Amino acid sequence: MTDYSMLAKQIEALAEEAPDIIPVFANASALLYGAMPDINWAGFYIVRDGILLLGPFQGKPACVRIEKGRGVCGAAWEKDETQLVPDVHAFPGHIACDAASRSEIVIPVHREDGAVTAVLDIDSPYPARFSEEDRAGLEALVRTLERIAAW
Ligand code: SME
Repeated sequence: MTDYSMLAKQIEALAEEAPDIIPVFANASALLYGAMPDINWAGFYIVRDGILLLGPFQGKPACVRIEKGRGVCGAAWEKDETQLVPDVHAFPGHIACDAASRSEIVIPVHREDGAVTAVLDIDSPYPARFSEEDRAGLEALVRTLERIAAW
């Protein structure tokens, strides 16, 4: 089981130098990608001009823009709810950036006023890779990001 609280501490320590979301999200995606087994993509989409724009990530090149409500990321944004998808092929409208992806988890990231300002997206080439423990750990890690990141 990935030690998400340790990762959150590392993210917080790295953010002390510069809390800007670009280095914070870049280091967070690198730490998650290195620490979580059996994943093939970890990164952020950032709300910009009414769409989700590709942000810092680790993994293969990904689609640049995602509309509200589209795919797993767009659903997490629209519903303001974590999307834990054990089988992406069964998710209507799933966007296949990497054909190898089989399961996915997307967690909304909020600004201080409560609006969704980004999503954290993690993909796996294995079905049902993400557990309820992963959901809880990643949601707690996102709470740390919300507290430290400067928009
Ligand atoms: N699969 C996502 C798109 C982003 S990539 O996985 C990096 C979705 O359906 O929203």
